[in-house]
Amino acid sequence: MPHADAPLYQALADELRGAMHDGRLAAGARLPSVREAARTRGLSINTVLAAYRQLEAGGLVEARPQSGYFVRSRLASPSAPRFAPASSRARAAESAVLTRIPRVIAAQADPDTIDLSLACPKGGDFYPGEKLSRLVADLARRRPALLTDYPLPPGPLVLRREIARHGLELGMELEPDDIVLTNGCMEALQLALRAVTRPGDTIAIESPTYFSLIPLADRLGLKAIELPTHPESGMSLDALELLLSEKRLQAIVAMPTVHNPLGTSMPVAAKRRLAELANDYRVPVIEDALYAELQFATPLAPVAKAFDRDGWVIVCASYSKTLAPGFRIGWMEGGRFRDELAAIKFSSSVSQPALLGEALGRYLDSGGYAQHLRRLRRTYAAQIDRLRGLIDAAFPPGTLATQPTGGFLVWVELPRGCDADRLFDAALAQRISITPGTMYSPSGRYTRHIRLSGCYPFTDRHIHALMTLGGLATRQLETA
Ligand SMILES: Cc1ncc(COP(=O)(O)O)c(C=O)c1O
Repeated sequence: MPHADAPLYQALADELRGAMHDGRLAAGARLPSVREAARTRGLSINTVLAAYRQLEAGGLVEARPQSGYFVRSRLASPSAPRFAPASSRARAAESAVLTRIPRVIAAQADPDTIDLSLACPKGGDFYPGEKLSRLVADLARRRPALLTDYPLPPGPLVLRREIARHGLELGMELEPDDIVLTNGCMEALQLALRAVTRPGDTIAIESPTYFSLIPLADRLGLKAIELPTHPESGMSLDALELLLSEKRLQAIVAMPTVHNPLGTSMPVAAKRRLAELANDYRVPVIEDALYAELQFATPLAPVAKAFDRDGWVIVCASYSKTLAPGFRIGWMEGGRFRDELAAIKFSSSVSQPALLGEALGRYLDSGGYAQHLRRLRRTYAAQIDRLRGLIDAAFPPGTLATQPTGGFLVWVELPRGCDADRLFDAALAQRISITPGTMYSPSGRYTRHIRLSGCYPFTDRHIHALMTLGGLATRQLETA
């Protein structure tokens, strides 16, 4: 209750605190702008600022550059992932992961199912679709040879030059001639693994990891060792160094900057150490930097590739999450493996469509990308806050969620008594699709985790689905 004699700024701060307490101002909500609050309440700008700053000092709101003040979520971040002992069930778990992936993809393709998990932003809210379609139409009309000539590698120079230019923002000094264009980031990961491993080899992966890496490693005949990966410190580099010193690894796959599914990043010093370990032990790191440009804080933190001394870091990325998922254009810079990678790309899929590559290059060259990324970062930061706020409201007490540093994914740890696989089945029965934590580990760890994504507009239907999901998790606890 605001006190009648309290200074004006204190009264305003107390009132807002009360609104946060009873849910009228939910986590992720934006406070009225300072100017607007001053005008509607007849207060001075300094009074409103003093109230907002008091709430900020108390950790209740945060100021975001050029966006305003936002209510912070009180959800705690999960502790380090817990590891079940290596078990004889690992093989069975791996095949469970492999059979679940097609079910999840089928659910996502079903228009009657609401998808709360997959990392596929859709539509005009997230991509400059109109501008890209104009560029494609214009190029197709003016340069029909882009459609009728066989597209030989290395692909449009304008695109490779722009990839190198934008790489500077992530601390990478890349040469356009060293860039191999690929069919999305997925093909880049596959080419990288094929270039540096042979069937029967062992690779280190993060745990949890991006679920498509599991079938990929499986099909290439690779054994994957899971390294504990903490939301704040990233992959355990001590465990990695132990394996490297025992010569047990032929490659390492990591997402040090905006990890999938954690949504968080390794500290820069740890990325530097990761690159140094690769160079010192002469074992390649395949760095998946797909979400690195979607870091919320600017200037962007460098990726591990920025610290590559002798070409042992292969960096892979694409424009699937930032610009044009339908183009399927990705890229890689393979350091000392460059020639081999170009040869494998040619023998597996020759090249990428010239028209789309040229259009993407032109878009990047036009200067609109930086502005688009700024908008996207702001949008996703707000979406993540909103999502965390909804998780806070919908899920049972004791639920934890990561505090992402970029992108649109949140890793949620449910309280003891919940089971993510059963939750997946129960949710699907109500036409809600999620990805259970067991999909993110070849040995089926993370039985109480789910990944949720915030890359869709939060319609009433989505909010209802999240509340239903939280209700299903709560029911699991009640019947546990
Ligand atoms: C971490 C990560 N790497 C790679 C990919 C595949 O990217 P693309 O669609 O560009 O092939 C994804 C897609 O979701 C991803 O999340």
